[in-house]
Amino acid sequence: AGPCDIYADGNTPCVAAHGTTRALYSAYSGPLYQVQRGSDNTTTEISPLSAGGVADADAQDTFCDGTTCLISVIYDQSGNGNDLTRAPPGGAATGPESDGYDNLASATGAPVTLDGSKAYGVFISPGTGYRNDETTGVATGDEPEGMYAVFDGTHYNDGCCFDYGNAETSDTDTGNGHMEAIYFGDNTFWGSGAGDGPWIMADLENGLFSGEDLDVNTGDPSISYRFLTAIIKGEADHWAIRGANAASGSLSTYYDGVRPDATGYDPMSKEGSILLGIGGDNSISGQGTLYEGVVTSGYPSDDTEASVQANIVAAKYATTSLTSGPSVDVGSSVSFQATTSGYTDYYLAHDGDTVNIQVVDSSSSTTLQEQASWNVVTGLGNSACVSFESVDTPGSYIVHIDFVLQVAAGDGTKQFNEDATFCPQDGLSGEGNSIRAWGYPTRYFRHYAELAYIASNSGPHAFDAPTSFNDDATWIIGDSFA
Ligand code: AHR
Ligand code: AHR
Repeated sequence: AGPCDIYADGNTPCVAAHGTTRALYSAYSGPLYQVQRGSDNTTTEISPLSAGGVADADAQDTFCDGTTCLISVIYDQSGNGNDLTRAPPGGAATGPESDGYDNLASATGAPVTLDGSKAYGVFISPGTGYRNDETTGVATGDEPEGMYAVFDGTHYNDGCCFDYGNAETSDTDTGNGHMEAIYFGDNTFWGSGAGDGPWIMADLENGLFSGEDLDVNTGDPSISYRFLTAIIKGEADHWAIRGANAASGSLSTYYDGVRPDATGYDPMSKEGSILLGIGGDNSISGQGTLYEGVVTSGYPSDDTEASVQANIVAAKYATTSLTSGPSVDVGSSVSFQATTSGYTDYYLAHDGDTVNIQVVDSSSSTTLQEQASWNVVTGLGNSACVSFESVDTPGSYIVHIDFVLQVAAGDGTKQFNEDATFCPQDGLSGEGNSIRAWGYPTRYFRHYAELAYIASNSGPHAFDAPTSFNDDATWIIGDSFA
């Protein structure tokens, strides 16, 4: 059985079921998601290997070979057609794309295995969001509903708001009680839980609730399992927060009680839109990763959820490598040779804070040779990837700031560490490596007008230009000059 078969048995059927990693019904063999590739903007659907099974990641890898791919649709497996697509602009923010829509997620930012079989989750960077404002069957008003999501409990931030669940159909903040969504992260602007976070909280609109009221509710623990099951459910004057390690064990209940006292939350005014990765008004500062999630009709019993949790554990989520291509070894010192025709005597270098490409060879000055040499260290923000320390400025690293590469002194913050973490992979042009930004996996080291950026393969900035993208974003990583 799949999670949605279990919810159906409990008389609280899934009304939306989103899983890029696997089918959530034992009989489901339709498409899980759609990817769009950068080379020609065509799309293909990725389905399970067999009914009820894990996604056919090889089909994605084949379709996306030698180019970039985005997740363009996350299909609803419930039959209600509640698919998720690029979120439109909202009351709080317009998205980063030129039409004001949010970014789509990279199709390769969140690789995992399920019982040994490769699959991809949805890696949400700030600016990325999905939504469906015209759903069928989703709770409105004070109707009961449940939801669970499997997240990466190590991928979060304190921005507003990495959510999955029920929100406004207008993409604007229409008031207290107009949302009921799972939030995950360490935002403390509204409520928070025990310790420093991250926490599973409920986004009920104009507040992330860790318990009865907008407060520090110590019953809601900091929780950061690599694979995290998060549950929010709500019915008339009653709601709950639950969570578990998605790879083992059973659910715990972190809140189970009445609705908040503040006006507007009892009764609720749910609207029935479904969103992923953003707040109800399209606040786009959150980050996180979704592997699978559902929204149900009716308030699921704890027994039903126990069976769902067992089903998730039995799916055997596990980590896999975030890198590919020629190895880039921690402890080595490297140079990055540009591969674009006419630029193959240029190397990634820096001049003060500015990262650029310069012509370098063994007869260059020692100063320039050092400026073009980098120590590979364990990724400051994720040990599965790497960071690049400047050879001539120990303690300073290549970091992206507003998507521009710079050399800056490490300051130990989570933000700096993540912005200085990069995942080398097979070179997009078929040789060498491309260097993916861990936190923005649609973006790669790219030289453009002899400066260096993390660029996406088309997008709002000049340096995102698709012309020559693969070559500009492919580097031969060799021994350092100095
Ligand atoms: O409730 C927290 C956030 O507040 C909502 O997601 C958003 O709509 C509002 O800005
Ligand atoms: O470079 C993109 C983002 O811009 C970084 O993550 C953030 O820190 C800001 O500098």
